[in-house]
Amino acid sequence: MGAFPVRGGDSQISRREDGVFGSTRGLLALKNFVPPARLQGIEKSIIRQVFDRARPGSINLGLGEPDLRTPGVIRRAAVSAITGEQNGYTSHAGLPELRQKVARQYPYLAENADRVIITAGSQEALYLALMTLVDEGDEVLLPDPGFVAYPTIVRMAGGVPKFYRLPREMDFAFDVEEFQRALTPKTKVVVCISPSNPTGRVLSRRNLKDIGYLLRQQGAYLISDEIYRDLYYTPERPESLSSVYDRTIVIGGLSKSLSMTGWRLGWLAGDEDVVKTALVLHGYVTTCASTVSQKAALVAWSTEAANARARFRMTFRARRDHLLKLILTELRLRAVMPEGAFYTMIDAGAYGPSMAVAERLLDHGVITVPGAAFGKESEDFLRVSFCADETTLTEGILRIKLGLESL
Ligand SMILES: Cc1ncc(COP(=O)(O)O)c(C=O)c1O
Repeated sequence: MGAFPVRGGDSQISRREDGVFGSTRGLLALKNFVPPARLQGIEKSIIRQVFDRARPGSINLGLGEPDLRTPGVIRRAAVSAITGEQNGYTSHAGLPELRQKVARQYPYLAENADRVIITAGSQEALYLALMTLVDEGDEVLLPDPGFVAYPTIVRMAGGVPKFYRLPREMDFAFDVEEFQRALTPKTKVVVCISPSNPTGRVLSRRNLKDIGYLLRQQGAYLISDEIYRDLYYTPERPESLSSVYDRTIVIGGLSKSLSMTGWRLGWLAGDEDVVKTALVLHGYVTTCASTVSQKAALVAWSTEAANARARFRMTFRARRDHLLKLILTELRLRAVMPEGAFYTMIDAGAYGPSMAVAERLLDHGVITVPGAAFGKESEDFLRVSFCADETTLTEGILRIKLGLESL
């Protein structure tokens, strides 16, 4: 069997033609793995760390995932794609017909499907958006509190996370003065999340106007995370931020509103040049989103799917009201009244730092997420989700009560 030398660091490693490496010096180097600088200090999110410590049989009020069944119309479309059709790759950007349907959701795209990329969940979309817009040393303005992925990915992109306060004393509502103070000429990208994870707050029309006005003066790109846009309890569906500001990159998807988290179907839409660059990255990262999921998503704007969305909204609204009542009557604590998404924030500051409180609650068989995971502003809070039926929510609150009483 022949062998040819390969230069590997300072040692000579020989590789046989069947691909097997052989050199004691080379193997030693492999044992001491050191992550590349851009990934050093990046850890599993606090949410995952809490989940990993939960004991079996725990009630999970930490989830960000709807428990309701994916609508029949979507499941049937997927089955028919699987059994009746060959499912190869789609184009990198996704099925043209699906991109067209997404483009129609945002008037500023002028029905231009080339301004849309179908991604593996909205998580991929936000990764692409940040990697495409953020250069080494760029400042990115993020909400505090806000979804955990943003500061981490900004750092991975070499950027510098900065924060605008969503003040706790205002139940985490948007505060234009805080926003204006934090927005500087050095801000390259701004992120807004509405409805918000973790607070469930929704930007009002007034907020949208203020944000649009300030950004038009300043010129930063805006990443608008609208993954919860169809889960609202306000009288009207929240407006997309893209309606007030052209340099908006919209992040959206079907995970939350149609109970499709595992289908990995999201999108990124916006400026043609930004999308063109993001598309190259997307091609290298995932090639394309799942073809079966894309075909199923073609019926996501059918009447049947619209009815399912409305049903889901009603279910979550009833759960929200049930949960908020229990927090008040059983725990006697203040909590944020969510206007969208499926989370509330409970002020548990009187019991100590949120991380310690959440850990104690784990001992009592209930999972919550410490507010510290989302930023300084929410350090005293626990995020509790209502992705569970009312009986489970009741049991969960009783366990929280016992846990808090033990502190
Ligand atoms: C604000 C926000 N954006 C994006 C995501 C990613 O969701 P997905 O990738 O399932 O679309 C989540 C998930 O929890 C989220 O809360």
